[in-house]
Amino acid sequence: MSAPVDPAAVAAATLGDAGYGLLIGGEWRGAAGGATFAVTNPATGEHLADVPDAGAAEARTAVEAAHAALPDWAATPAPARAAVLRKAAALMLDEQERLATVMTLEQGKPLAEARGEIAYAASFLSWFAGEAERVYGSTIPASAAGKRLLVLRQPVGVAAMITPWNFPAAMITRKLGPALAAGCTAVVKPAEQTPLSALELGRVFARAGLPPGALNLVTCRDPQPFSETIFADERVRKVSFTGSTEVGKLLIRQSADTVKRLSLELGGNAPFIVFADADLDAAVRGAIASKFRNAGQTCVCANRIFVQREVYDRFAELFAAQVAGLRVGNGLDPASVIGPLIDEQARAKVERHVADAIAGGAAVLAGGRPAPVGANFWAPTVLANATADMLVAREETFGPVAPLIPFGDEDEALALANDTPFGLAAYFYTRDVGRVWRVAEGLEYGIVGVNDPIPSTAQAPFGGVKQSGLGREGGPTGINEYLEEKYVSLAL
Ligand code: SIN
Repeated sequence: MSAPVDPAAVAAATLGDAGYGLLIGGEWRGAAGGATFAVTNPATGEHLADVPDAGAAEARTAVEAAHAALPDWAATPAPARAAVLRKAAALMLDEQERLATVMTLEQGKPLAEARGEIAYAASFLSWFAGEAERVYGSTIPASAAGKRLLVLRQPVGVAAMITPWNFPAAMITRKLGPALAAGCTAVVKPAEQTPLSALELGRVFARAGLPPGALNLVTCRDPQPFSETIFADERVRKVSFTGSTEVGKLLIRQSADTVKRLSLELGGNAPFIVFADADLDAAVRGAIASKFRNAGQTCVCANRIFVQREVYDRFAELFAAQVAGLRVGNGLDPASVIGPLIDEQARAKVERHVADAIAGGAAVLAGGRPAPVGANFWAPTVLANATADMLVAREETFGPVAPLIPFGDEDEALALANDTPFGLAAYFYTRDVGRVWRVAEGLEYGIVGVNDPIPSTAQAPFGGVKQSGLGREGGPTGINEYLEEKYVSLAL
């Protein structure tokens, strides 16, 4: 047995007493009037640190700094920009253990997942370092003999990024990597629950040699003044946001007055389909990996598990037995595989969804209640005989709750899976190669995992259709979100 972990002692040893500031124009500074807000550990409720509570004035200063840094950074040769990104990725990996511990302290995810996220976050910097060197333009055959037609690809300009708490490092680098690679400068506002990982990234980039002002970090408790300021500012040419569909719709409206380019990674309602011909053991392992990653708090987590009737009982039995054995606890404890939910609001939503399913006739095969570990913990839950009209199937639960819904044939599975306004990620398990093509093509989603519960990777495009968002991050096209095409027609 390992010794019990003392989260307060780990926090003191990891965070030190250097304190955290806003990063603006290459300087660490406080907010006006010394305003701060507290960052707490969701597993224990303990206070971790105070960070500056910026308002509209600091957001404006950050935009000014990014705007001032833009000409030099955009003119920096691509291999030199790439070298900074590669150096930052290497520094993140050198510091993986400490950065992962900071993340677990403020976000709650098990340390093993946090280490994985630091590597995942660094991989976006390495990938886009390579892409920086391959921003090719093109020539187009002209219809007039005396003309030459060229297409240049240039940075969009100052890019603002609003990032979520569920992946406090990777959702920043998935935006910042391509932005810096393209020659844009950035103003980043991390989620108020998890600003420390973002500020740690700021330190990493400073050590990697990123020029002052190319990255500015603004922390604030209330996102509204920040958001209003950057959307009103003509100098901000691009906004990238990861978060809820509700907020995404608000940002689309806010972007209208200054006609900004937007990338939006919004909510999902991922179907996970198990066909009768699937390798059931693999499907059970996959459903656990997809559903319970980050305690169910990812936009791509399986939200609705559809199981073909012939194998429904067997799958439910195997799945529930394994879920019941998942260890819930503080993410700092190496034995924990399920950490806390981010806050009381998140826990209340999970409770409401489970109560609604039970009232509607679902049977609890595992969990179904809070876990007696701390205020924000919920026992991993399996609900049998769920139906498509329950809250657990209509809304994204964002918690460790797996509703099992039986289906008859392939057409019914596709109809159920597509019956949602969302279209981020979908999964299915089968060994029939014809079905692989039919179902992959029939699913109205931006990402499809076939016998693969974790398709996310820096090399592939990530993004949704329908109300799950606009644009793609990562992959060979991710850098396009931060580039403008300029057509040049030359008469000889
Ligand atoms: C997300 O939840 O939005 C990110 C998940 C991933 O990158 O796999």
